[in-house]
Amino acid sequence: MKTTVSIIKADVGGWPGHALVHPELKNIANKKLTKAKRDKLLIDFHVTHCGDDLELIMTHRKGTNSKKIHGLAWDTFCEATNKARQLGLYGAGQDLLCDSFSGNIRGMGPGIAEMEFTERKAEPVITFMMDKTEPGAFNFPIYKIFADPFNTAGLIIDPSIHDGFVFEVWDIQKHTNVFLNTPEETYDLLALIGAKSRFVIKRVFPKKSSKLPADEPVAVISTEKLYHIAGEYVGKDDPVAIVRAQSGLPAVGEVLEPFSIGHLVSGWMRGSHNGPLMPVSVNDAQCTRFDGPPRVISLGFQLKDGKLTQPVDLFNDPAFDITRRNAQRVTEYMRKHGPFEPHRLPMEDMEYTTLPKVMKKLGSRFKKVE
Ligand code: F6R
Ligand code: MG
Ligand code: MG
Repeated sequence: MKTTVSIIKADVGGWPGHALVHPELKNIANKKLTKAKRDKLLIDFHVTHCGDDLELIMTHRKGTNSKKIHGLAWDTFCEATNKARQLGLYGAGQDLLCDSFSGNIRGMGPGIAEMEFTERKAEPVITFMMDKTEPGAFNFPIYKIFADPFNTAGLIIDPSIHDGFVFEVWDIQKHTNVFLNTPEETYDLLALIGAKSRFVIKRVFPKKSSKLPADEPVAVISTEKLYHIAGEYVGKDDPVAIVRAQSGLPAVGEVLEPFSIGHLVSGWMRGSHNGPLMPVSVNDAQCTRFDGPPRVISLGFQLKDGKLTQPVDLFNDPAFDITRRNAQRVTEYMRKHGPFEPHRLPMEDMEYTTLPKVMKKLGSRFKKVE
């Protein structure tokens, strides 16, 4: 029997501003999901936060896009929104873009990463949650994990992954997808995913030659873009991802290794700035300096018959101190550029922020230059 792991997340109110999730919102989510576990809808769950995003990590047998699971997440976010309103939290209900649930939470504001697969004898599941950035922030690390032999030694050494992987890439502007094989089509893949605000990795699959089923994903990333849904800037699309590891897949250490770079991502203050992605422990997942810098947390679990072990807070490790120090140095350097590109995003990426409203005011004052 297959297991489904779903992460569904939303910003339903910040504390203060867009810094953090209030503990009372997590209490509501814990109560709601405890009841769903008692009622046998969920096998297991874990509630956490990254910055101002409430994260529901759930396991069940309902498959992806389940009306019941999505409905449970929607109801949880609605209850948490009511609490956020009572407490006067900032931007209560920010990511809930519809008034009522219509059967599938996709396109309604929350971010979703979920995959259904056959559990192996021992199944390490690594979850990632980011704040103050966009889905394309996962392109760089997911590429490195599954396709870069300088990151993943197993691609060279281990015959079970030597053949490489298949990447499903979405064009989030045209709503199309394409499957690319690595290592054969590595350059084509990079040509697309380097443009991370448009082309995003959605899933990674094993190849047919793998001992793992080729139709069951080994990684999945949320690709919701709030401004594509809402038609205007309503906050960032802080993404989440699930990656399976070991025995014919990259090792846990190979899955975490790309995050040691603190690569540059878009988001940060007002969703309008480039900055380094800082890997932090859950305790440090609060966005303070210039509403950031963008952060990523990682919780690792072993999965058994759908049950999750206690999570391990994987970036809560001095081995990542040097990354954090570098990210702080880069933050210091980039902040000195104030409103200038490339710290601020290029004009085409500012289209869905509040900047066009400012530009409109100046419109009639522009005169033709001979
Ligand atoms: C970025 C983010 C924050 C807000 C900023 C202004 O994703 O959420 O940086 O954009 O704090 O917020 P408002 O417009 O709500 O005052
Ligand atoms: Mg917010
Ligand atoms: Mg957020």
